[in-house]
Amino acid sequence: QPTPIAVIVGSLRKASFNRKAANALIAQAPASLDMAIVEIGDLPLYNQDFDDDSPEPYRVFRERIRAAEGLLFVTPEHNRSMPAAMKNALDIGTRPPGHNVWAGKPGAVISASPSMQGGFGASHHLRQSLVNLNVRCMPQPETYLSQAHQLFDEQGQPTERCRGFLQKFIDGYAEWIAAQLR
Ligand code: FNR
Repeated sequence: QPTPIAVIVGSLRKASFNRKAANALIAQAPASLDMAIVEIGDLPLYNQDFDDDSPEPYRVFRERIRAAEGLLFVTPEHNRSMPAAMKNALDIGTRPPGHNVWAGKPGAVISASPSMQGGFGASHHLRQSLVNLNVRCMPQPETYLSQAHQLFDEQGQPTERCRGFLQKFIDGYAEWIAAQLR
């Protein structure tokens, strides 16, 4: 039985490089993983007043994360951190108190940016939050997709070079998930 993996993409824009990377990772994933993007674009901004009576999108989102056995975060970098949409999703998943849906799951982070740094700052801010969420985050292969505008063709398919990075990452990820769930 393949392991269900929730893929969280931190960009909401249609032509997102991170979404292209996520789709390529899903396409290149070994058969041991059943990967699907869990959308975060319709989640209202987190408000603690909603803890007692949460909006429907919060409930659906939390249920989807609960059902996953592994997590993959694909993040852009906004002002040297993760985008607000990504942080919003993290926060919603941790509430109400005592109901952190992320807790104990194995996961990993990959980032993409047109810059030379490849979203390094966002990746590490996100990793810091994942410590508090008690997500067991894959140490290696750490992957920052730099100059992301050169890594995908018009159809959104990865270049051969990019396919190579992604394969190394997703093979390592599959091993990490298998080892953590053993
Ligand atoms: C950016 N961008 C950006 N890039 C980067 O490498 N470091 C950064 O700190 C920032 N900051 C930033 C802030 C805001 C508000 C925006 C809108 C953009 C550029 C960013 O990497 C670029 O827009 C990517 O294309 C976003 O990822 P997606 O949407 O292509 O996945």
